[in-house]
Formats: sequence, structure tokens, C-alpha cells
Amino acid sequence: EVSEIINYFLKYFTLDYEKILWILRLENENKKEEIYKVADIVTRTLTTDFITLKGIIEFTNYCNKSCNYCGIRVQNNCIKRYRIPEEEILKIAKNGVDMGLTTIILQGGEDEYFSDETLERIIYKIHHEYKTSVSLSIGERSKEAYKRFKEAGASKVLLKHETINKKIFNEIHPDKDYEYRIELLDYLVYLGYITGSGNIIGLPGQTEKDIADDIIFMRDHRIKMIGMGPFISTHNTPLEGYPDGSADLTLNAYAATRLTIPYALMPATTALGTLKRDYQFKALRSGCNVIMVNITPDKYRKNYNIYDEKIKVEFYETAERILEEGLKLSPYTYRRILEAKRNGYSYER
Ligand code: 5AD
Repeated sequence: EVSEIINYFLKYFTLDYEKILWILRLENENKKEEIYKVADIVTRTLTTDFITLKGIIEFTNYCNKSCNYCGIRVQNNCIKRYRIPEEEILKIAKNGVDMGLTTIILQGGEDEYFSDETLERIIYKIHHEYKTSVSLSIGERSKEAYKRFKEAGASKVLLKHETINKKIFNEIHPDKDYEYRIELLDYLVYLGYITGSGNIIGLPGQTEKDIADDIIFMRDHRIKMIGMGPFISTHNTPLEGYPDGSADLTLNAYAATRLTIPYALMPATTALGTLKRDYQFKALRSGCNVIMVNITPDKYRKNYNIYDEKIKVEFYETAERILEEGLKLSPYTYRRILEAKRNGYSYER
């Protein structure tokens, strides 16, 4: 029952496997609302009372990996590949900072064209010249590379474990090593990165138990940022035709995660917004405290199809909606939005 969950949380500041599973399986609308409310209160009291906007730049859709769910996997030759030139990446980042973003996420496929040296230069500039946090979402690179990126000024890394169920992990990742993924995550934590991980919800063969295991795994490995998105069946991939993940289960997972890892930074994901637009905002009242806005120029972004019909989470539109819903923005972001509004949104959009 909800009251048992609350009492357990107040005593231990986390949940156990059984309680996580109970929340994941909740279907009763009233009980769900109660749990979401508790997760929301915990978010606001133990993290921040505002939603953090982070800007994502999808700088390359080249990828040399074959993940079975992903639309930019190397075998997919139906998409147009692009790489954003270094100078342009910097310009986009600078513009994002001027608009009011405090974290820039560099995301891309696993693309060796961008050497460690190039990435170091980009990171250094965004962190030291634009005075902004840099988060990396570039898949697997060598430990040495991640060490250098840290020294160059990156403070965060997102490296989703995707699923902790080894059998499913191996089925959907023909060319990835389960043990290495976990070892690398642990190494990132050891290096002092604010380390992010996460899973896909609704993979073929996955159960609520697997998702409970994912949450416990992230807690036990000191993961501080948690990205959990529903599976979205995607054209020209081996998982094309499998059913999409459940948006309701995703919300339950957010609430359960908030009560298990109370201090986490947890985005309301674009994948959830793609399945059900309103759920992305409902998530911001159910345990999530971050939203990633896309600042990739449209001519590139339209080809970054990691899954079908990926929506564009736009900066101003998202900020406005957050305020309309009675939620808050961080002081810097809010100030910049007000200024932009006064000037008739004259920034590049
Ligand atoms: N459905 C849901 N999430 C996906 N990702 C990639 N493809 C899909 C898909 N079809 C997610 C993975 C990856 C992140 C960049 O996007 O979790 O880590």
C-alpha cells in the first residue's frame, strides 16, 4: 500500500526490490496519483524546486555500432549521414548558453571521425570560454579518452546500460560487451564524473522485474543521472514491428526511481514525449526534474532518427509550457527567457 511505501521511504530513504516492483505494477489510478505526488514532493524537497533545462547537440549521426533498436545503427543505409563541423558545434553551443542553458550535452553515434583531440578542444571551449557544464553522450570510448575529456572540462557523462538483463542485453547488442559497459560506468564514477545511465522500457522479452533490477543496479553503482525512455519501434532496424513500450509503465518507473535514488537528476525523456506528448510534462510532476531541449539545427536534426517520429523538444516552447504548468525554471534560465520575451524572442531559434 501507498502508506507502507511512504513509511519505508521515510525510514531508509530508498526502496527495496519488492516495493519498486509494486510501484511498477500499479494500475489503480488513485494510488498511482498518490505515488506520483509523493515522488514529486521528494523531488522538490531533496533536489531542486525547479526544472533544469539542458541543451542537446546531436553532432554526428554516423555510428559504427549495430544496436538492434536504433535507427542510426551502421547497417541502416536509408538515412542521410551528417557530421556538424567543429566551428558550427561551438556556435550552436554558444547560442544555447546565450539563450539560457547551463548544460550542453554533446550527443552522437560512436564516430571515430571525431578524434579525442577534436572532442577535447570542443569540450575545453564550451566549459572554459562559455562557462558552461559539458555532458557527454557519445557511447563507448577508451578509458583514456574519458580521462582526457574530464581534464578538458567535461563534468558529466551519459552512458545508458540499456538493460541489466544480460540475456536481453546480448540479444540487442550484437557488438557490445555487457561486462565492459558496466566496468566503464564504474570507471566514470571513479574518475569523478557525475555519471548518468538508464534503460529502455519495454524491450522485447523484458518484464517489470528487469526494470526493478535496472533501478537497483543504478542505485548500487552510484548513478546520479537517470534517463529512462520507452522503447519505440523503429523502421529499418531488427526490432521494427515489435510493440512500443508503455508510457504508463515509464511514469511508474520514474516515481519508483525517485523514491529509490532520491537525489538523482532525472529527465522526462523525449522518447516518452514522442509516445505521448503530455506525459513528458506529467513526468515533471512524477519524479523527474530535468528536460532536454534540442538545439541541433533542423537540417541536421531531421536525420538524427535514433527512433521513429522523434519529436523536437524546442527551448522556448518547453520553457513556456513549464511556466504555464506552474513549474519553475532555474534563475539563470528564467532571467534569459524573460529578457528574450521582452526583446520579442530575437535570438536564433
Ligand atoms: N527506442 C527507445 N530508445 C532508443 N534509443 C535508441 N533507440 C531507441 C529506440 N528505438 C535510446 C537508447 C540510447 C539513446 C541515445 O537512445 O537508450 O542510449
